[in-house]
Amino acid sequence: MTGVIRADQAGITLAVEALRRGDVIGLPTETVYGLAGDLSNVAALQKIFAVKGRPYDHPLIVHIAETQQLDALASEVSDACRALVEQCWPGPLTVIVRAAKSVSRIATGGRDTVAVRVPAHLVARAVITELGSPLAAPSANRFGRVSPTLAHHVTRDLGADVALVLDGGPCDIGVESTIVDCTLAQPQILRPGAITHDEVRQILATAAVTLADHVTGPSRASGMLERHYAPAACLVLHELASGVPADGFPVLDCASDPVQAAHGLYASLRAFDDADVSTVHVLLPRAEGLGYALRDRLNKAAAGH
Ligand code: TXA
Ligand code: MG
Repeated sequence: MTGVIRADQAGITLAVEALRRGDVIGLPTETVYGLAGDLSNVAALQKIFAVKGRPYDHPLIVHIAETQQLDALASEVSDACRALVEQCWPGPLTVIVRAAKSVSRIATGGRDTVAVRVPAHLVARAVITELGSPLAAPSANRFGRVSPTLAHHVTRDLGADVALVLDGGPCDIGVESTIVDCTLAQPQILRPGAITHDEVRQILATAAVTLADHVTGPSRASGMLERHYAPAACLVLHELASGVPADGFPVLDCASDPVQAAHGLYASLRAFDDADVSTVHVLLPRAEGLGYALRDRLNKAAAGH
């Protein structure tokens, strides 16, 4: 195994060689690190599911380098979807669209829809461009565990199961992309992220489309399972108004600066586990902007204890 390598031109070339061989790699994006494989290589797609320990019916996100490449993957792109991707790509937005026949049903978990995004991270786009094929990439953690936001998180979790990890530094945002199901007349946000509900609503309005209030139907993302993003420590969540008890357990303040809190969230959860901390008090951010995504991840990380 090659381990963590610098994401310079030489590193990108090595990564592309590994992908051409059908290997899977750790890939930096602006949200979290991905476990990337060549979309056109069935063995690579199967390896992603095997390495993650992910059920085969949980679809992967397809990463492309240019917005125009969406049309090769989709059989249909609504005006609302076009408005979203024009405004938000490259960036932390994933759209669900009807899949073209050519898209591997392994990547889509057997569905006729596909999740697509153009990451903002230059290294991710450089790898896709040099490979000349889209990359299927879920977050580079074992199924149900905390996502990685540093290169060494990936090697710690997945070890020799990845050919190499490109070190693109700490992920800017720190929580996974916003997922919008664009196959419906009224699009739905399946997973909140750094592109906020208000932004999505405003962009959809330019195409005279409204955002659904609730998530219903068959597209519900696996990230919507009740317990997910889970550390070993027990998280006790507190609203700002009620405050945090002074009982000696550590406090994770996600309220004062939600942007910084999102950036450091998964590294903090991993650090608590490394230190064998049993209980962590979490001060929740307000349910606005990035606060929605943080509350979503914290609720899931806290569930089941
Ligand atoms: O920020 C991100 O989106 C990161 C980086 C690496 O790009 N990726 C990521 O992938 O979070 P993953 O596999 O951990 O989460 C993808 C989510 C899952 O909850 C999956 O069920 C949902 O996307 N998804 C993918 N394709 C779908 C589809 N066709 N319909 C509904 N949900 C879909
Ligand atoms: Mg994930």
